[in-house]
Amino acid sequence: MKRTKVIDALKSTAYGSDICVKGWVRSKRGSKGIFFIALNDGSTIKSMQIVGEDTNFDEETIKRITTGACLSVVGKLVESPAAGQASEIQAAEIEILGDCDNTYPLQKKGASMEFLRSVAHLRPRTNLFGAILRIRHNMAMAIHTYFHEHGYFYFHTPLITASDCEGAGNMFQVTTKNLYDLKKDEQGKIIYDDDFFGEQTSLTVSGQLEGDLGETGLGAIYTFGPTFRAENSNTPRHLAEFWMIEPEVAFLDQEELMDLEEDFIKYCVRWALEKCKDDLEFINNNKFITPNQDLIPRLESVLKDEFVRLPYTEGIRILQEAKKNGKKFEFPCEWGDDLASEHERYLVEEHFKKPVIMTDYPRSFKSFYMKQNTPVDAASPDGASVGYKGAVAPGPTMQGTDVLFPSIGEIIGGSVREESLDKLMAEINRREMDTTHLWWYLDTRKYGSCPHAGFGLGFERLILFVTGMQNIRDVIPFPRTPKNAEF
Ligand code: 4AD
Ligand code: MG
Repeated sequence: MKRTKVIDALKSTAYGSDICVKGWVRSKRGSKGIFFIALNDGSTIKSMQIVGEDTNFDEETIKRITTGACLSVVGKLVESPAAGQASEIQAAEIEILGDCDNTYPLQKKGASMEFLRSVAHLRPRTNLFGAILRIRHNMAMAIHTYFHEHGYFYFHTPLITASDCEGAGNMFQVTTKNLYDLKKDEQGKIIYDDDFFGEQTSLTVSGQLEGDLGETGLGAIYTFGPTFRAENSNTPRHLAEFWMIEPEVAFLDQEELMDLEEDFIKYCVRWALEKCKDDLEFINNNKFITPNQDLIPRLESVLKDEFVRLPYTEGIRILQEAKKNGKKFEFPCEWGDDLASEHERYLVEEHFKKPVIMTDYPRSFKSFYMKQNTPVDAASPDGASVGYKGAVAPGPTMQGTDVLFPSIGEIIGGSVREESLDKLMAEINRREMDTTHLWWYLDTRKYGSCPHAGFGLGFERLILFVTGMQNIRDVIPFPRTPKNAEF
C-alpha cells in the first residue's frame, strides 16, 4: 500500500478508508489492552496517533515498539475522540522497519540544549529541532523567492579564494601541501608555487567582491552560500561556518539600500508567520524555550515597526547620554570606536525598542570598499562634538548600513560601495593593502564603473531571530565552532 505522509494524513477526511503511514515513534503509552503511539515522519510538527489493541498483535511486536523505533503502520483512518487532533489511525498491521536500541539518548523530554548538541546526529528527531529545521528550510525558500520575484539572479561565488574580502585575515587555509615537509624561502616564508593552486588559498569569508563582478553584468545578483571565519569567537552569535546571503545591486543609493534591507527582512519574517505557523506555535508555546510565550508577538511587531535609520554619530551621542544618566557599559563608546554588542542592544532594545539601521560609520573599523561621504572631513566636527579622542583625524565617514536587531545585534552588514577608482585606491593605499589579488575587482572601477550597493545577511542570525533560540549552535544542523567539528 502506498505510504501517505503524516502531514497529508492529518488533513485527510477520508474516514473509514485504509491508509499507510511510516515514521518514528515519539512516544508510546498503553492502558487496558490498548496502546497509543505518537508517530512522526518529519513532514510536520504534529504526530499521527496510532491506536492498537493488544490482542491484535503478538507480544514481541508490541515490545519492540519503543521510543525512536521506525514503523510502517496500515490501518483505518478515523475521527479522533481525543482533543487536539482531528484524526487517528486504528492499526491493523504494524511492521517494525527499524528497532531502536534501549541506549537511545532521546527517551526523556526536556533535555538541555547542551546535551542535544552532544547528540547532534540525533537531535533532528526531536520536536524542537524538527521545528527549527523546517523553519530554516522555509527561510531559504523565502530568500530565493524574494530575490527571484524582484529580478535578482542567483550568482555562485567561489568558496576557495586567494583574496581576503573583509581584510580581517581570519581565514582557513586550503592546501594539499604536506604539512610535515613545508618548503620555505630565505625569509622563512612558505613557498606555495608547488601547492595545488600555485598560490596561497583559503575558504572565503564573503562572496561580495566576486558578487560585485556579477552585478556589473547582470544588474542585480545575490549569493547564498557557506562562509568561513576562523575568528576565535566563542559567543552565542558566531559560527566558524555560517551561511550568508549577499545581494549586490547596480544603481542603488544609500536610501534605496536601506529600503531593500528592511523590505527583505520583513518579507522573510512575514513568510515565517504565514508558512511556519505550526512550528512557530510549537516554539512559542514551549515554556522552556519561550518563557514569556512572546515569540509570535515579537515577529509581528517587527512587521509593524518602521526601522529607525540612525547615523553612527547620533548613535554615539545617545550612548554617551545614557552613560551620563548612569548606564554602565563594559566597553568604550567614544566616536571612532566600533560598537560592541552591548551598545547595539542598548540602542535597539532599550532606547528605540525596534530594529535600527545604523549608517555612516567612521572608516577606522569599516572595510576599504565602502563609499566615502564627502566632504572628506564631514564627520570631524560632529566627531569632535561627541568627544572623539583618536590620534588620527576621523576622515570621511563611510556609507555603511548595518541592521541591528533586538536580542541579536547585527543581523545585516551592508554598504554603498565606493565606485571611484581614485578614492578606492587612496583608501587601499592608506591601509597599505596588498592589491595582488584585487586587480580584477579594481578593473570594475576602470571599465564602466557604476554606483552600487549591497549587504550580507547572516542566515543563522535570521533563524535565531525567527525561532527565538538563544544560541546560534542550535539553528544549524551541524555547528562548526572553535574546537568543535564533530558530526
Ligand atoms: O558584517 P559582515 O562581516 O559583512 C560582510 O561580510 C560583507 N562582505 C557583506 C556584504 O556587504 N556583502 O558579515 C555580514 C553578516 C553579519 O551582519 C552577520 O549577520 C553575519 O554575516 N556574520 C556571522 N554569522 C555567524 N557567525 C559569524 N562568525 C558571522 N560573521 C558575520
Ligand atoms: Mg559587520
